[in-house]
Amino acid sequence: MTDQKKPYSIFITGIAGFIGSHLASFLKKRGDYVIGCDNFNDYYSPELKKARAERLKKQGIEILNCDICDQNVLSRLFDEKGFTYVVHLAAQAGVRYSITHPFPYSHSNLDGFLHILELCRHHQPLKLVFASSSSVYGGNTKTPFNEKDPTDHPISLYAATKKSGELMAQTYHHLYHFPILGLRFFTVYGPWGRPDMAYYSFTESILDDKPIPVFNHGKMGRDFTYIDDIIAGTANALDFEGGFELFNLGNNQPEPLMEMIHILEKHLGKKAQIDFKPMQVGDVKQTFADIDKAQKLLGFQPKVSLEIGLERFVQWYHAFQESSLSIT
Ligand SMILES: NC(=O)c1ccc[n+]([C@@H]2O[C@H](COP(=O)([O-])OP(=O)(O)OC[C@H]3O[C@@H](n4cnc5c(N)ncnc54)[C@H](O)[C@@H]3O)[C@@H](O)[C@H]2O)c1
Repeated sequence: MTDQKKPYSIFITGIAGFIGSHLASFLKKRGDYVIGCDNFNDYYSPELKKARAERLKKQGIEILNCDICDQNVLSRLFDEKGFTYVVHLAAQAGVRYSITHPFPYSHSNLDGFLHILELCRHHQPLKLVFASSSSVYGGNTKTPFNEKDPTDHPISLYAATKKSGELMAQTYHHLYHFPILGLRFFTVYGPWGRPDMAYYSFTESILDDKPIPVFNHGKMGRDFTYIDDIIAGTANALDFEGGFELFNLGNNQPEPLMEMIHILEKHLGKKAQIDFKPMQVGDVKQTFADIDKAQKLLGFQPKVSLEIGLERFVQWYHAFQESSLSIT
């Protein structure tokens, strides 16, 4: 942060999550005032979420253990603090889980997001930045995915709720005029990541000598985007002056799934046992972000290759396992 810039007062939802915890730490370090909330649900290890939260507390960041639907608690906090920025990251994530467990998606991604929009509406002036997802592009085959491409055919409930969030946000901007930016994240990975994501669960299985399920017989591509690049883009989004905008934040370089596995094998020093499986419902074959708009308007420039990013993830994974073992 330059000397001239006043510190921002920022509320982050989903602060104990993967992206939320990195963002909070980054913003606090650059001098902003940061508070956040998380409901520490057990979609994946609450212990991991607590460990992220502990690190943030050591930095002096306040964390509320509450649900984004808890309007009374959050409304009082907003009255008291007068936030100028809200970064809304809390959501029920995961494409495959949405096939088997639909209701957490309506709770957090529809009801929850509506509560956040209402809070913002009643506590202006402030700017809202929220997380959307590459999944809104559904089964589109034209690549790279551009913000102007159609997004009216989501193929999972997760994607449908993320697309609905974009529509609700656009409507709130139209009705109440506060600035709102939606960021379509593309497969974010890195240290302190999410155990439900393939790079993380594959790491665990490779180390445990368990087979890894590789869908569509490995013929999948993902635009893996390293966490630090996503955080830089999200922080820049806070400064963007605009009404309502959507941006892709991706690496602009899709990698075959098998390449991701080969890099993991190299850094783990072990071969994976691969269990090839057919395509899963709800999954898309490839994601590929067109990032021209984010480059021009947000100065977004991904820098970290999959090779380097996975090496950093594996180093963190080993260190985290050792520190968890020394506590238990
Ligand atoms: N990680 C990715 O690759 C990726 C890709 C596209 C979009 N996104 C989106 O980015 C955002 C952050 O993702 P993440 O990877 O950090 O996920 P995450 O699951 O690690 O973080 C989300 C956090 O929100 C919390 N949360 C969920 N529902 C809540 C509720 N009702 N009230 C309060 N807290 C609640 C969870 O406990 C969790 O800590 C999400 O909106 C997700 O949909 C992530």
